[in-house]
This record gives sequence, structure tokens and C-alpha cells, in this order.
Amino acid sequence: MLSVENLKVVYRGVILALDGVSLELGDGEAVALLGPNGAGKSSLVRAVAGLLPKFEGRVLDGHVRLMGQEATHLDPVRITGLGLTAVLEGRPLFRYLTPVENLVAAGHRLSPQELKAGMEEVFARFPRLYERRHEQAGYLSGGSSRCSSWAWPSSPAPRCWWWTSPPWGFPPSWWRR
Ligand SMILES: Nc1ncnc2c1ncn2[C@@H]1O[C@H](COP(=O)(O)OP(=O)(O)O)[C@@H](O)[C@H]1O
Ligand SMILES: [Mg+2]
Repeated sequence: MLSVENLKVVYRGVILALDGVSLELGDGEAVALLGPNGAGKSSLVRAVAGLLPKFEGRVLDGHVRLMGQEATHLDPVRITGLGLTAVLEGRPLFRYLTPVENLVAAGHRLSPQELKAGMEEVFARFPRLYERRHEQAGYLSGGSSRCSSWAWPSSPAPRCWWWTSPPWGFPPSWWRR
């Protein structure tokens, strides 16, 4: 499903963040990247999701293949189209929009029926988010905004989720599920 081969990433042309990183991820598998601050975990997530240019970074060498296709220098929209969605750290939401509006934005490529079904699934999974679905996302608690940002990729039904950090802050009810 995802294959990273000998990846080399630099920022601003000179700051070497990754060198010779490889990993394979098959269908139904999970891989955890562990390492101290500055080890390069986020850089790998950004590289795979096509987000490096937003951070003044780029892939200097190596390859990313997604669903059997070369994806090394694709833009994030095309990468999402191949079935991968990255969940970024922090609160990657439109803070002036409500959770409902955020989900509509995330699911803009879905049919109205798919969007409705996706939204129902998300709100069934996160009842607390449902209660606050019409409030501005910027005012959500840390836990709710993590749920909400996690909910983003569940809406376009991706095949591969790629999280920058574990879903800390999720309610106990979510973990029990
Ligand atoms: N936008 C950036 N510009 C310059 N250097 C960066 C940038 N982002 C990360 N780095 C550097 O790349 C290296 C890896 O960082 P990062 O991928 O954020 O590590 P981690 O997520 O494991 O903490 C570090 O040396 C960090 O300082
Ligand atoms: Mg990081």
C-alpha cells in the first residue's frame, strides 16, 4: 500500500532532516515511528503527504510509492486522491468554521449522499463533537478538536491514515470502541 525507499529530505536546501529512510506498509498493517524531538517523524509524514513545500522542504533523493504508484513529488491533493490522508499535529481545523462546516470542506469531493453518511459516522463515533457541531471549531476543547481533526480523514474514506502524533486527548469512550 505504502512504500518509502531511501528517502532524503532537506529544509531550505541545507538542513538535512532525513537520510536513507525506508519503510513498507501493507494492507491492514500499522507502523509506529518512535524517536525524540527532531528525529524526523514529522518530516516523514510531510514527505509522504506531499506537504514538504509548505514547510520550505523537499525530497532530495529516494521514492514514495502509494497504492503501487509513484507519489514522490505529487501535490497533496493528488496524494489524497490516491487514498492517503495525513492527520497533522496541533489543531488542523478551520477555526472560524463549525465542525459540520469543517467536515463539508474535508468531504468536498464526495457526493451529497456519501457526505451525509460520512458525517453521520463521524458524529456517531464522537458524541461530544456532535453536541458542539454548530460551534466555532476554534472554541472546541483540546479533546474535541483532536476528534474533529481525526474525523477529517474518516470523511473521504481513505485507505491509509498517516498521523503525526498519537490521538492523545480522545475521550475514554473512543478507546473502548
Ligand atoms: N520547517 C523547517 N525548517 C527547517 N528545519 C526544520 C523544519 N521542520 C523540521 N526541521 C528540522 O528537521 C529535523 C527533523 O524535525 P522533525 O521532522 O520535526 O522531527 P520530529 O517530528 O521527530 O520531532 C530537525 O532537525 C528539525 O529542526
Ligand atoms: Mg514532530
